[in-house]
Amino acid sequence: MRATAIAQPNIALIKYWGKRDLERNLPAVGSISITLRDLYTKVAVDLVPQSRSDTLLVNGAEAPSMLARISACLDRVLGEQRPRAAVSSTCNFPIAAGLASSASAFAATTVAAAAAARRAYTTAELARLAGAASGSAARSLIGGFAELANLGDTIEVRPLRDLESWPLEVVVAITESGPKSTSSTTAMEISRQSSPFYDSWVNQQAHDLGIARTAIAQRDFAQLANIAEHNCLKMHSVMWASRPPTVYWNATTMRCLQTIRRLQGEGCNVFFTIDAGPQVKAVCLPGEADRVRQALAETSGVEAIMTSGLGPAARVVVQLDG
Ligand code: PMV
Repeated sequence: MRATAIAQPNIALIKYWGKRDLERNLPAVGSISITLRDLYTKVAVDLVPQSRSDTLLVNGAEAPSMLARISACLDRVLGEQRPRAAVSSTCNFPIAAGLASSASAFAATTVAAAAAARRAYTTAELARLAGAASGSAARSLIGGFAELANLGDTIEVRPLRDLESWPLEVVVAITESGPKSTSSTTAMEISRQSSPFYDSWVNQQAHDLGIARTAIAQRDFAQLANIAEHNCLKMHSVMWASRPPTVYWNATTMRCLQTIRRLQGEGCNVFFTIDAGPQVKAVCLPGEADRVRQALAETSGVEAIMTSGLGPAARVVVQLDG
């Protein structure tokens, strides 16, 4: 039995940073994200009962270093007694470079595995399973604007607004396409154990989530811009103050922020956010995308630009027997 699923990455506007339960991969804080339309990961899961081990191809090449996490994800979705699987993933953007490739990869793997085995999970259950593999993956089970909330000993994702009702655009400036220096899981633990700002980060998150939720409900771009930039800079301050420090930015990251500040000074409706990597994501109103794209493309050191509108939830695209 085989199935293929597509999932889009999502970009957090109010960030997840830190885990409250390492074993179960439960986040310390809630988060709010937007799912992107033009970046995707497509994952085919082929259940092969006669096979003795899982295999993984990423963009056509064997990827042994990622196989253990994929196998663990399949175990959670199908149980440890499951048949082995041939998994093949294709992705149209750089992997492990702070562009949420793990979010789309684990969301697509979870959805494809469940469909291949004909398991009728609800979206809430799929989100929990994807989130156990990669915290941010849970949000790719929702299209448009999504909130991930911490509930007792679990998580819950819900849509805050659909993608058509507030069509924001995201311009991604790639400042370095290689894999990131420190994985987000490692860096989060270093932050939790050593950053003097970690507790304030966790304690202030409910406040930031509330402001962002209201801004999204009211389509208040200025308010969303303000809280998203603040939340992003706070997350990176937590990392910078940890021991050893985690600094994902490079000189071009900083130049992109200066470009965005200049555009804002000229009245452009744009704001930045940066995740666990050096790339800069500029979120803007649709009419501003060309201008933002051009200004970031002209920023010294920017290697490539990708532009995307908001995208749909993870979904099955092929389901086959035999
Ligand atoms: O899901 P992970 O383990 O790759 O962590 C994602 C962390 C950030 O991208 C920095 C923030 C977020 O909420 O996506």
